[in-house]
Amino acid sequence: MVENETIKIILSRRSIRRYKDKPVEREKIDAILACAAAAPSANNFRPWHFIETTDRQTLGALADAHPYGKMIAEAGVAIVVCAEKERNKAVDVWWEEDCGAAMENILVAAAALGLGSVWLGVLHHGPSGVPEKVRKILGIPADVQVVAIASIGYGAETKPPYGEADPALVHKGRW
Ligand SMILES: Cc1cc2nc3c(=O)[nH]c(=O)nc-3n(C[C@H](O)[C@H](O)[C@H](O)COP(=O)(O)O)c2cc1C
Repeated sequence: MVENETIKIILSRRSIRRYKDKPVEREKIDAILACAAAAPSANNFRPWHFIETTDRQTLGALADAHPYGKMIAEAGVAIVVCAEKERNKAVDVWWEEDCGAAMENILVAAAALGLGSVWLGVLHHGPSGVPEKVRKILGIPADVQVVAIASIGYGAETKPPYGEADPALVHKGRW
């Protein structure tokens, strides 16, 4: 494969769910947020809001709120990605894709900065009440969708990087 630092980082990104007890530096959080806000967006409506928290009590509350998000309690920072669907009088489409792109930028930026992270889905956890619980913890307005949480910290586990794409899933020319 081609030798390239960015490609290497993208392939090395894995879900890291165990963290060292070490704070994430302010400038790293700011860089990750800048990357989140630089994601592509349909019609350039940019529907996202980002809520960052390094507060241990809030991180603990978010961990309690999410059935598969217990690692947030040990994270250095969590970034909650939300969507204001009606931003710029936008029609109610594309915001899931836009926020997904922002999430991926967050995870890749974290990897580039030597941090481990994991994507925690929130949007479709309706029946277990996760969106409502997160909304309450963070004071998110009722008309703003809670899409996902990025749990980020200095990793206390390592996983092997990805390599070439599975050829069975890559179709050259046509299916
Ligand atoms: C939409 C979405 C929701 C996810 N939700 C969770 C979650 O709630 N808890 C969790 O531990 N991981 C969650 N993950 C991470 C996946 O489990 C992980 O990406 C997958 O197992 C592949 O592992 P990798 O990220 O190391 O490549 C989620 C990922 C995506 C894209």
